[in-house]
Amino acid sequence: LPLPTQTDYQTALQHPTIAFGDPELQRCRVEMNNWGIPRPRSGGFALTFHLLGGSQEYAVRCFHRDVPEIRAKYDAISKNLRADTSRLFETFEYQPHGVKVSGTQYPIIKMAWVRGETLGAWVDSHSGDKAALRNLATNFRAATVQLADKGVAHGDIQHGNLIVTADGSVRFIDYDGMFVPGMTPGNGHEVGHPNYQHSQRSARHFGPLMDRFSAAAVLTALELIIADARLWDDFNNGDNLLFTRKDFEAPLASRLFSRAVALPGAGELASRLRAVALANIAQVPCVDDFLAGRGIPAVVTPPLLVRPTPAAPPVQRTGTPSNVHGGRYDVIPALDRLQLLGRVGDRVEVVGQVTEVRDKRNKAGQKYLLVDFATRPSSHFRVCVWPKAYGRLVQRVRPDELVGHRVSVLGLLERYQRYDGEFAPQVQLDDAKDAALFVDLAVAVSGGNVQPRSARTGLTNSAILDQLNGKTPVQAVAQAPSPPKKTPLRPSNAQVLAGLNQPQKTPGTPAPPPPAPRTHSAQGGASGQPASQAQAPRVSHPSPAKKDDTMPWIGAVVGGAVAGVLIPCVGIPIGAWLGWMGGVAWRDS
Ligand SMILES: Nc1ncnc2c1ncn2[C@@H]1O[C@H](COP(=O)(O)OP(=O)(O)O)[C@@H](O)[C@H]1O
Ligand SMILES: [Mg+2]
Repeated sequence: LPLPTQTDYQTALQHPTIAFGDPELQRCRVEMNNWGIPRPRSGGFALTFHLLGGSQEYAVRCFHRDVPEIRAKYDAISKNLRADTSRLFETFEYQPHGVKVSGTQYPIIKMAWVRGETLGAWVDSHSGDKAALRNLATNFRAATVQLADKGVAHGDIQHGNLIVTADGSVRFIDYDGMFVPGMTPGNGHEVGHPNYQHSQRSARHFGPLMDRFSAAAVLTALELIIADARLWDDFNNGDNLLFTRKDFEAPLASRLFSRAVALPGAGELASRLRAVALANIAQVPCVDDFLAGRGIPAVVTPPLLVRPTPAAPPVQRTGTPSNVHGGRYDVIPALDRLQLLGRVGDRVEVVGQVTEVRDKRNKAGQKYLLVDFATRPSSHFRVCVWPKAYGRLVQRVRPDELVGHRVSVLGLLERYQRYDGEFAPQVQLDDAKDAALFVDLAVAVSGGNVQPRSARTGLTNSAILDQLNGKTPVQAVAQAPSPPKKTPLRPSNAQVLAGLNQPQKTPGTPAPPPPAPRTHSAQGGASGQPASQAQAPRVSHPSPAKKDDTMPWIGAVVGGAVAGVLIPCVGIPIGAWLGWMGGVAWRDS
């Protein structure tokens, strides 16, 4: 029997008394999104809903993908955690018939809701607070050591699976990939978030040692941010802390590692992590050894690979924001409505050109944005930037500057029903974000964190922002060679992106003008359009009377809050950008 979809769960959960069998859950209400329907939090196998209003708050995980042997697995974990006094885990219950959807019962996990922020969101709001970061690092270290001592491993330590509570202590959530004593090692069904894993990690490594590398990576990242908070601005891409899979696959080519190992205070830890990433996965030391510098594998560097760091790193141009997430998520063009609707409930990366940004206010007077990718009225993709995310976005970019630019949006795809009954794909940016919602030329430009912004463009974050704001003149950006092409086995993200290399037409309208070249790539860029000819951005001002805007608030709506990242690829001449995108060697995960 196929599992229900996100939309099915959202419909069913509007009536907890009917949907749930558990009396406590029946007494709760489900947290709603800004459109007034149940708000899903996304991840891999489950959609998590927040239940409140009862004697206690709960997280209810509803599965939309099969977890092999789910029942046996959760029974074993539950049995193990019952005896656990560490307070690192929340009690949970696997209910095989927990939720009824269209008359059929499906399993859920009922779990206590942990008050706090995910690790990613927490670091985003504390990146400048050394004392808080230090306290967190201490608590995290103690937590991982406790786990290891019990022979337990979480399996997917990452920014979305740890909650930091108000006192800075940590709690693990999401036990899908957990190993507890008694389970058979080597028999895993997932491999953890690639931005936290050794490059050799596979399902075979399921077992008590599988957290070693991710724990070392988190601790190193925290130490690095303590040593230099700018690293967070330069290397966080919304789906990591600092490191990405690429750093672990090619540590000697990693700009982050080059910068990190030279940092007073944290450089030593970074060079240990680099050595561990270079070595065989079997050589990853336990956390205490890693911190003490014991058992760190020696780095055997082939002489040919040792290259002196150039005094001024070559400046690279363009890139694709879709590379930001290292190929973990499928890339879908914003105008491919049908494909997007077919992927509702999945976390994907949507790329496209912004046609309109509307600055609006909700009933409470808080600002939010509606970002469109086709001329309205349309049932094409839209991004809603809700008030909590709005504040973060406007710190980085003026909303009107998004118009005409290509952006990449990472998030949970949702389906929204318009007043005329048509469905439109949507991503909603809310406070569920696992990290800063950010506008980052460099990440967009580089294809991941291969090169930090400052190395690539010779510019710091603030300099780029100054340019964005027209305070300093723009600089030319040199051409970089395209990476070698790989032949993908199936239509790859690169091909999707290459497909975008056609003149983009908004249905029913002429193609929008190229973006106003206001940034570093403007001069000598492929568009050849001087900054002075920049088009005035088309931004509508709040107009509450507009039918298109007001009706959805009342109408039947399917959508929900989401984690996501909005990364405008501002300032990159479209032709050059797309040309490069077509040549990207894409790694499908
Ligand atoms: N018990 C909980 N307390 C607080 N937040 C939770 C809890 N469970 C899940 N969440 C939130 O929902 C998100 C997704 O849940 P998670 O259990 O990690 O599912 P997935 O398998 O989809 O990653 C988390 O990143 C977190 O923001
Ligand atoms: Mg998770």
